[in-house]
Amino acid sequence: MPPEKIEIFKNLEGWAEQNILVHLKAVEKCWQPQDFLPDPASDGFHDQVMELRERAKEIPDDYFVVLVGDMITEEALPTYQTLLNNGDGVRDETAASLTSWAKWIRGWTAEENRHGDLLNKYLYLCGRVDMRQIEKTIQYLIGSGMDPRTENSPYLGFIYTSFQERATFISHGNTARHAKEYGDSKLAQICGTIASDEKRHETAYTKIVEKLFEIDPDATVLALADMMRKKITMPAHLMYNGRDDNLFDHFSSVAQRLGVYTAKDYADILEFLVGRWKVEDKTGLSSEGRKAQDYVCGLPQRIRRLALGRAKKPQYVPFSWIFDKEVKL
Ligand SMILES: [Fe+2]
Ligand SMILES: [Fe+2]
Repeated sequence: MPPEKIEIFKNLEGWAEQNILVHLKAVEKCWQPQDFLPDPASDGFHDQVMELRERAKEIPDDYFVVLVGDMITEEALPTYQTLLNNGDGVRDETAASLTSWAKWIRGWTAEENRHGDLLNKYLYLCGRVDMRQIEKTIQYLIGSGMDPRTENSPYLGFIYTSFQERATFISHGNTARHAKEYGDSKLAQICGTIASDEKRHETAYTKIVEKLFEIDPDATVLALADMMRKKITMPAHLMYNGRDDNLFDHFSSVAQRLGVYTAKDYADILEFLVGRWKVEDKTGLSSEGRKAQDYVCGLPQRIRRLALGRAKKPQYVPFSWIFDKEVKL
Protein backbone atom coordinates (compact mmCIF):
# COMPACT_ATOMS: atom_id res chain seq x y z
CA MET A 1 0.00 0.00 0.00
CA PRO A 2 1.30 3.51 -0.77
CA PRO A 3 2.81 5.42 2.21
CA GLU A 4 -0.01 8.00 2.30
CA LYS A 5 -2.54 5.20 2.78
CA ILE A 6 -0.44 3.59 5.52
CA GLU A 7 -0.43 7.02 7.16
CA ILE A 8 -4.25 6.91 7.34
CA PHE A 9 -4.10 3.87 9.62
CA LYS A 10 -1.31 5.35 11.75
CA ASN A 11 -3.46 8.46 12.20
CA LEU A 12 -6.44 6.32 13.22
CA GLU A 13 -4.57 4.80 16.21
CA GLY A 14 -6.28 7.07 18.74
CA TRP A 15 -9.66 6.63 17.10
CA ALA A 16 -9.29 2.83 17.18
CA GLU A 17 -8.36 2.95 20.88
CA GLN A 18 -11.61 4.82 21.63
CA ASN A 19 -13.92 3.13 19.16
CA ILE A 20 -12.66 -0.36 18.36
CA LEU A 21 -10.87 -1.72 21.41
CA VAL A 22 -14.08 -1.10 23.39
CA HIS A 23 -15.64 -3.99 21.45
CA LEU A 24 -13.28 -6.47 23.09
CA LYS A 25 -14.57 -7.90 26.34
CA ALA A 26 -12.44 -8.03 29.47
CA VAL A 27 -11.20 -11.59 30.08
CA GLU A 28 -12.84 -11.62 33.52
CA LYS A 29 -16.19 -10.86 31.89
CA CYS A 30 -15.83 -13.39 29.06
CA TRP A 31 -17.44 -16.80 28.89
CA GLN A 32 -15.04 -19.73 28.69
CA PRO A 33 -15.62 -23.10 26.97
CA GLN A 34 -15.70 -24.79 30.37
CA ASP A 35 -18.87 -22.84 31.25
CA PHE A 36 -20.76 -24.98 28.70
CA LEU A 37 -19.09 -28.37 29.18
CA PRO A 38 -19.14 -31.16 31.77
CA ASP A 39 -16.74 -30.32 34.59
CA PRO A 40 -13.99 -32.98 34.64
CA ALA A 41 -13.16 -32.13 38.28
CA SER A 42 -16.70 -32.76 39.53
CA ASP A 43 -18.23 -36.04 40.72
CA GLY A 44 -21.05 -35.52 38.27
CA PHE A 45 -18.71 -35.51 35.27
CA HIS A 46 -19.64 -38.95 33.97
CA ASP A 47 -23.37 -38.32 34.31
CA GLN A 48 -23.03 -34.96 32.57
CA VAL A 49 -21.13 -36.60 29.70
CA MET A 50 -23.79 -39.32 29.39
CA GLU A 51 -26.52 -36.67 29.24
CA LEU A 52 -24.61 -34.77 26.56
CA ARG A 53 -24.27 -37.99 24.53
CA GLU A 54 -27.97 -38.85 24.95
CA ARG A 55 -28.94 -35.44 23.60
CA ALA A 56 -26.51 -35.82 20.68
CA LYS A 57 -28.20 -39.09 19.64
CA GLU A 58 -31.26 -37.13 18.50
CA ILE A 59 -29.24 -35.08 16.02
CA PRO A 60 -28.83 -36.29 12.40
CA ASP A 61 -25.48 -36.93 10.69
CA ASP A 62 -25.80 -34.08 8.19
CA TYR A 63 -26.03 -31.60 11.08
CA PHE A 64 -22.78 -33.00 12.47
CA VAL A 65 -21.05 -32.62 9.10
CA VAL A 66 -21.87 -28.92 9.18
CA LEU A 67 -20.96 -28.47 12.84
CA VAL A 68 -17.62 -30.23 12.26
CA GLY A 69 -16.92 -28.03 9.22
CA ASP A 70 -17.68 -24.96 11.32
CA MET A 71 -15.41 -26.20 14.09
CA ILE A 72 -12.55 -26.91 11.67
CA THR A 73 -13.00 -23.41 10.24
CA GLU A 74 -12.70 -21.94 13.76
CA GLU A 75 -9.68 -24.13 14.54
CA ALA A 76 -7.69 -22.66 11.64
CA LEU A 77 -7.39 -19.45 13.68
CA PRO A 78 -3.59 -19.15 13.25
CA THR A 79 -4.27 -18.47 9.56
CA TYR A 80 -6.69 -15.63 10.32
CA GLN A 81 -4.27 -14.00 12.73
CA THR A 82 -1.63 -14.22 10.00
CA LEU A 83 -4.06 -12.61 7.57
CA LEU A 84 -4.68 -9.64 9.87
CA ASN A 85 -0.95 -9.30 10.44
CA ASN A 86 -0.45 -8.93 6.70
CA GLY A 87 -2.19 -5.58 6.68
CA ASP A 88 0.14 -2.65 5.98
CA GLY A 89 -0.13 -0.04 8.73
CA VAL A 90 -2.05 -2.30 11.11
CA ARG A 91 0.11 -5.41 11.57
CA ASP A 92 1.52 -6.39 14.96
CA GLU A 93 5.21 -5.63 14.39
CA THR A 94 6.60 -7.44 17.43
CA ALA A 95 3.88 -9.93 18.53
CA ALA A 96 3.42 -7.73 21.62
CA SER A 97 3.14 -4.31 20.00
CA LEU A 98 1.16 -1.70 21.92
CA THR A 99 -0.50 0.00 18.93
CA SER A 100 -4.31 -0.15 19.01
CA TRP A 101 -4.39 -2.21 15.80
CA ALA A 102 -2.00 -4.80 17.25
CA LYS A 103 -3.93 -4.91 20.52
CA TRP A 104 -7.12 -5.45 18.56
CA ILE A 105 -5.61 -8.27 16.47
CA ARG A 106 -4.37 -10.13 19.56
CA GLY A 107 -7.49 -9.48 21.63
CA TRP A 108 -9.74 -10.60 18.78
CA THR A 109 -7.64 -13.75 18.27
CA ALA A 110 -7.79 -14.53 21.99
CA GLU A 111 -11.58 -14.25 21.96
CA GLU A 112 -11.91 -16.32 18.79
CA ASN A 113 -9.70 -19.04 20.23
CA ARG A 114 -12.53 -20.01 22.58
CA HIS A 115 -14.81 -20.84 19.63
CA GLY A 116 -12.75 -23.70 18.24
CA ASP A 117 -11.96 -24.92 21.76
CA LEU A 118 -15.60 -25.12 22.77
CA LEU A 119 -16.83 -26.83 19.59
CA ASN A 120 -13.84 -29.19 19.57
CA LYS A 121 -14.43 -30.33 23.14
CA TYR A 122 -18.16 -30.68 22.60
CA LEU A 123 -17.63 -32.80 19.48
CA TYR A 124 -15.02 -34.92 21.27
CA LEU A 125 -17.46 -35.71 24.07
CA CYS A 126 -20.55 -36.29 21.92
CA GLY A 127 -19.22 -39.55 20.49
CA ARG A 128 -20.78 -39.01 17.08
CA VAL A 129 -17.73 -38.03 15.06
CA ASP A 130 -14.33 -39.43 14.07
CA MET A 131 -12.02 -37.12 16.00
CA ARG A 132 -8.83 -38.38 14.41
CA GLN A 133 -10.09 -37.62 10.90
CA ILE A 134 -11.22 -34.19 12.06
CA GLU A 135 -7.86 -33.48 13.67
CA LYS A 136 -6.10 -34.47 10.46
CA THR A 137 -8.33 -32.07 8.51
CA ILE A 138 -7.41 -29.25 10.90
CA GLN A 139 -3.70 -29.96 10.49
CA TYR A 140 -4.03 -30.02 6.69
CA LEU A 141 -6.01 -26.78 6.72
CA ILE A 142 -3.62 -24.80 8.91
CA GLY A 143 -0.78 -26.13 6.77
CA SER A 144 -2.54 -24.94 3.59
CA GLY A 145 -3.55 -21.48 4.87
CA MET A 146 -6.02 -19.51 2.81
CA ASP A 147 -6.09 -17.06 -0.07
CA PRO A 148 -8.68 -14.34 0.51
CA ARG A 149 -6.92 -12.07 -2.05
CA THR A 150 -6.84 -9.14 0.34
CA GLU A 151 -3.22 -8.45 -0.72
CA ASN A 152 -1.64 -6.36 2.06
CA SER A 153 -4.43 -3.83 2.11
CA PRO A 154 -6.31 -3.25 5.35
CA TYR A 155 -9.09 -1.74 3.20
CA LEU A 156 -9.60 -5.17 1.62
CA GLY A 157 -8.79 -6.98 4.87
CA PHE A 158 -11.36 -5.15 7.00
CA ILE A 159 -14.03 -5.51 4.31
CA TYR A 160 -13.26 -9.21 4.22
CA THR A 161 -13.44 -9.61 8.02
CA SER A 162 -16.68 -7.57 8.18
CA PHE A 163 -18.20 -10.01 5.72
CA GLN A 164 -16.79 -13.07 7.47
CA GLU A 165 -17.83 -12.13 10.99
CA ARG A 166 -21.38 -11.63 9.77
CA ALA A 167 -21.22 -14.93 7.83
CA THR A 168 -20.14 -16.80 10.98
CA PHE A 169 -22.74 -14.94 13.06
CA ILE A 170 -25.39 -16.24 10.64
CA SER A 171 -24.09 -19.81 10.40
CA HIS A 172 -23.54 -20.31 14.16
CA GLY A 173 -26.95 -18.76 14.72
CA ASN A 174 -28.47 -21.32 12.35
CA THR A 175 -26.71 -24.31 13.94
CA ALA A 176 -28.05 -23.01 17.27
CA ARG A 177 -31.59 -22.84 15.89
CA HIS A 178 -31.36 -26.35 14.42
CA ALA A 179 -29.94 -27.82 17.64
CA LYS A 180 -32.93 -26.40 19.46
CA GLU A 181 -35.27 -27.97 16.92
CA TYR A 182 -33.62 -31.32 17.63
CA GLY A 183 -34.31 -30.78 21.33
CA ASP A 184 -30.72 -30.04 22.36
CA SER A 185 -30.95 -26.68 24.11
CA LYS A 186 -27.43 -27.03 25.57
CA LEU A 187 -25.86 -27.34 22.13
CA ALA A 188 -28.10 -24.50 20.96
CA GLN A 189 -26.65 -22.40 23.77
CA ILE A 190 -23.09 -23.29 22.71
CA CYS A 191 -23.64 -22.24 19.09
CA GLY A 192 -25.69 -19.20 20.10
CA THR A 193 -23.01 -17.97 22.48
CA ILE A 194 -20.37 -18.20 19.76
CA ALA A 195 -22.74 -16.39 17.37
CA SER A 196 -23.04 -13.48 19.80
CA ASP A 197 -19.23 -13.08 19.86
CA GLU A 198 -19.22 -13.01 16.06
CA LYS A 199 -21.86 -10.29 16.12
CA ARG A 200 -19.72 -8.15 18.44
CA HIS A 201 -16.72 -8.64 16.15
CA GLU A 202 -18.84 -7.77 13.12
CA THR A 203 -19.78 -4.50 14.85
CA ALA A 204 -16.09 -3.63 15.32
CA TYR A 205 -14.98 -4.47 11.78
CA THR A 206 -17.94 -2.74 10.13
CA LYS A 207 -17.20 0.35 12.24
CA ILE A 208 -13.63 0.43 10.88
CA VAL A 209 -14.89 0.25 7.30
CA GLU A 210 -17.54 2.88 8.07
CA LYS A 211 -14.70 5.16 9.21
CA LEU A 212 -12.73 4.43 6.03
CA PHE A 213 -15.80 5.36 3.97
CA GLU A 214 -15.93 8.62 5.90
CA ILE A 215 -12.30 9.65 5.42
CA ASP A 216 -11.45 7.96 2.10
CA PRO A 217 -14.71 7.09 0.29
CA ASP A 218 -13.22 6.60 -3.15
CA ALA A 219 -10.56 4.09 -2.13
CA THR A 220 -13.05 2.31 0.13
CA VAL A 221 -15.77 1.85 -2.48
CA LEU A 222 -13.13 0.67 -4.97
CA ALA A 223 -11.88 -1.83 -2.37
CA LEU A 224 -15.40 -3.09 -1.74
CA ALA A 225 -16.02 -3.59 -5.47
CA ASP A 226 -12.62 -5.26 -5.86
CA MET A 227 -13.35 -7.66 -2.99
CA MET A 228 -16.78 -8.54 -4.38
CA ARG A 229 -15.48 -9.08 -7.92
CA LYS A 230 -12.93 -11.50 -6.51
CA LYS A 231 -15.78 -13.04 -4.48
CA ILE A 232 -15.47 -13.53 -0.74
CA THR A 233 -13.74 -16.90 -0.40
CA MET A 234 -14.62 -18.79 2.73
CA PRO A 235 -11.81 -19.08 5.28
CA ALA A 236 -11.68 -22.89 5.05
CA HIS A 237 -11.78 -23.10 1.24
CA LEU A 238 -8.51 -25.10 1.17
CA MET A 239 -9.90 -27.76 3.50
CA TYR A 240 -8.68 -31.34 2.86
CA ASN A 241 -8.96 -34.59 4.80
CA GLY A 242 -6.40 -36.67 2.91
CA ARG A 243 -9.05 -38.20 0.61
CA ASP A 244 -11.71 -35.89 -0.72
CA ASP A 245 -10.37 -33.31 -3.17
CA ASN A 246 -13.69 -31.49 -3.05
CA LEU A 247 -14.17 -31.59 0.69
CA PHE A 248 -14.92 -27.91 1.07
CA ASP A 249 -17.50 -27.93 -1.75
CA HIS A 250 -19.12 -31.00 -0.24
CA PHE A 251 -19.24 -29.46 3.21
CA SER A 252 -20.68 -26.19 1.83
CA SER A 253 -23.30 -28.09 -0.18
CA VAL A 254 -24.56 -29.72 3.01
CA ALA A 255 -24.53 -26.35 4.80
CA GLN A 256 -26.49 -24.88 1.88
CA ARG A 257 -29.05 -27.72 1.85
CA LEU A 258 -29.62 -27.50 5.61
CA GLY A 259 -29.94 -23.73 5.40
CA VAL A 260 -27.01 -23.10 7.74
CA TYR A 261 -25.18 -20.92 5.22
CA THR A 262 -26.54 -20.33 1.72
CA ALA A 263 -26.06 -18.28 -1.45
CA LYS A 264 -29.00 -16.19 -0.25
CA ASP A 265 -27.10 -15.46 2.98
CA TYR A 266 -24.14 -14.29 0.87
CA ALA A 267 -26.38 -11.84 -1.00
CA ASP A 268 -28.08 -10.76 2.24
CA ILE A 269 -24.72 -10.05 3.92
CA LEU A 270 -23.61 -7.89 1.01
CA GLU A 271 -26.93 -6.04 1.00
CA PHE A 272 -26.65 -5.53 4.76
CA LEU A 273 -23.11 -4.14 4.48
CA VAL A 274 -23.98 -1.85 1.55
CA GLY A 275 -26.80 -0.47 3.71
CA ARG A 276 -24.69 -0.34 6.87
CA TRP A 277 -22.03 1.72 5.08
CA LYS A 278 -24.62 3.81 3.19
CA VAL A 279 -22.75 3.08 -0.03
CA GLU A 280 -25.63 4.32 -2.18
CA ASP A 281 -25.53 7.78 -0.60
CA LYS A 282 -21.83 8.44 -1.13
CA THR A 283 -21.22 11.55 -3.21
CA GLY A 284 -18.16 13.24 -4.64
CA LEU A 285 -16.72 9.98 -5.96
CA SER A 286 -14.43 9.72 -8.99
CA SER A 287 -15.93 8.22 -12.14
CA GLU A 288 -14.26 4.90 -11.23
CA GLY A 289 -15.70 5.21 -7.74
CA ARG A 290 -19.19 5.79 -9.12
CA LYS A 291 -18.87 2.69 -11.29
CA ALA A 292 -17.80 0.67 -8.26
CA GLN A 293 -20.72 2.10 -6.29
CA ASP A 294 -23.23 1.06 -8.99
CA TYR A 295 -21.66 -2.38 -9.21
CA VAL A 296 -21.85 -3.21 -5.49
CA CYS A 297 -25.31 -1.70 -5.02
CA GLY A 298 -26.77 -3.87 -7.80
CA LEU A 299 -24.85 -7.00 -6.90
CA PRO A 300 -27.09 -8.53 -4.18
CA GLN A 301 -30.00 -8.77 -6.66
CA ARG A 302 -27.79 -10.33 -9.32
CA ILE A 303 -26.44 -12.93 -6.88
CA ARG A 304 -29.98 -13.85 -5.83
CA ARG A 305 -31.06 -14.30 -9.46
CA LEU A 306 -28.05 -16.53 -10.15
CA ALA A 307 -28.66 -18.60 -7.03
CA LEU A 308 -32.25 -19.29 -8.13
CA GLY A 309 -31.12 -21.00 -11.32
CA ARG A 310 -28.85 -23.42 -9.54
CA ALA A 311 -30.79 -26.65 -9.15
CA LYS A 312 -28.65 -29.72 -8.49
CA LYS A 313 -29.51 -33.37 -8.76
CA PRO A 314 -29.27 -35.25 -5.48
CA GLN A 315 -25.87 -36.72 -4.74
CA TYR A 316 -24.51 -38.63 -1.75
CA VAL A 317 -20.94 -38.32 -0.51
CA PRO A 318 -19.09 -40.06 2.33
CA PHE A 319 -17.53 -37.84 5.01
CA SER A 320 -14.50 -39.16 6.89
CA TRP A 321 -15.54 -36.97 9.87
CA ILE A 322 -18.54 -39.23 10.51
CA PHE A 323 -16.88 -42.60 9.84
CA ASP A 324 -17.43 -42.42 6.07
CA LYS A 325 -21.17 -42.42 6.36
CA GLU A 326 -22.82 -40.93 3.27
CA VAL A 327 -24.65 -37.66 3.45
CA LYS A 328 -26.86 -36.01 0.85
CA LEU A 329 -25.37 -32.87 -0.66
FE1 LIG B 1 -15.32 -17.54 15.54
FE1 LIG C 1 -15.24 -14.55 14.04
